[in-house]
Order: sequence, then C-alpha cells, then structure tokens
Amino acid sequence: MKEEQIYSGKAKTIYRTDDPSKLIAHFRNSLTAFDGKKKSEAPNKGYYNAQISKKIFEMLESEGIRTHFIEMVSDTEMLIDTVEIIKIEVIVRNIAAGSITRKYPIEEKTHFKDPIIVFDFKSDEYGDPMLNDDIAVALGVATYDEMEKIRTIALRINKLLVEYMNKVDLLLPDFKLEFGRKDGEIVLADEISCDTCRLWDKKTGQSMDKDIFRFDKGDLSKAYEEVARRIVPEIFA
Ligand code: TMP
Repeated sequence: MKEEQIYSGKAKTIYRTDDPSKLIAHFRNSLTAFDGKKKSEAPNKGYYNAQISKKIFEMLESEGIRTHFIEMVSDTEMLIDTVEIIKIEVIVRNIAAGSITRKYPIEEKTHFKDPIIVFDFKSDEYGDPMLNDDIAVALGVATYDEMEKIRTIALRINKLLVEYMNKVDLLLPDFKLEFGRKDGEIVLADEISCDTCRLWDKKTGQSMDKDIFRFDKGDLSKAYEEVARRIVPEIFA
C-alpha cells in the first residue's frame, strides 16, 4: 500500500508503504543534467527506464547479485527494499566518454584494457567530488571492507552488463551504480537505465542515453524506446 512521499530526487520519487522494510520508487519523466542546472521532461521516459531497470535487476539477481528490486507495482513504479543508501556514486568505465575526456588527456572512444572504477561522493552541495577509500572512510560514508566489496560487485556487474548489452547491439562505455546496506550486506540500489548508462548503438555509434539530452543530440524518448524494444521486447508485444 503506497503511503506518503518521503523523498523526491531528480528522476524518481520515493514513497513509504505500510511495510517499513519496503518502499515504492516512482520513475518520473523529468530529466536533469549538470547538477540540475538543465531541466526537462520527456514523454514515457519514466516508463522505459523503469522497465529497463526491472529487466536488468532481474538479470543481475539471477546471477546472484543482490539488488533492492522486489517487483513492479505499476508500469512506472517498483517495490524496493528499504536500504541505508551509501552516499557514493560508483562509475564504471570501459570506453572513454564524458567527464573523463574533459578532466584527463584521454581521447573519446579509447577502449580501456581494464575497466576503470571511479568513486564520487554523492553530494549536490559539494558537486559530487571524487573519493578514494581513505576519504570515504574519513567521511564515515563507508568502511574499507565495504569499499572493497563494492569494487568487486561493480566489476562483476560490469562484466554481466557488457555481455548483456552486446547481445542487443549496444556498447556500454560507462555507467553509474549506487549501493545500500541491508542486514549487513551490500545491496545494489537506485536504477540501471538509459539515464545512468552510456549506451552506443554498435552499428551507428549513436548515443541512446541521457547524453541526447545533455548535449541536445535528438529525440530522447525515441532513443529510450528503441533501447526498451531491445531489452524488454515483451512490453511491446
Ligand atoms: P560522466 O562522464 O558525466 O562523469 O558520467 C559517467 C557515467 O555516469 C555516465 O554513464 C552517466 C552516469 N552519471 C549518472 O548516472 N549520474 C550523474 O550524476 C553523473 C554525473 C553521471
């Protein structure tokens, strides 16, 4: 049973339920970029992202990765476990794109021999600065043991996701993960969708993710629909 809203982020709203161990995440059509400075709405964005996320969470669960996903309660709403969110954005990079090409002398489209993991402190106030293990521990956001576990899980997810996307003719240059704690375990939280991944069409190289909005590269809803057609064809049947 959906109760009052407890939090509204840039793309999702979280509601309490009558069970304190479960929440409802509503995927909205709103879009932001550049720390919320650029804002818009895209028709059906919430629907496609919710369905894509659900499918990916189910795939990861089937591979033994614990996620907060329980079940869909509507087309755009998922029932999730209540977790204690770890205030770190975990970015995994396979091919150079985005901020790494602006901050370092690395050419866009460079394929990294080994995936690169970057940890950012999730804080709008401080502009999500990069973290290392020592800073994370000093800030009290995670322990060394948790940082190690997060790294291992993120690399495992990367392997599974690269393969998964490859099967539907998508390259996965990079993506962002968030984790939480539940019963002493690290649990994958948030979402995995066109908002949180870079996805390039294998044949054309075109962006099929939020870069379309960030850099005004075309019709975002159409691209997200195409990704949904490849990942969750059953919703179009
Ligand atoms: P970046 O190149 O802008 O640092 O983004 C790296 C990846 O992380 C990219 O797939 C988009 C994703 N991302 C988010 O999901 N949320 C964010 O707030 C940012 C900055 C990036």
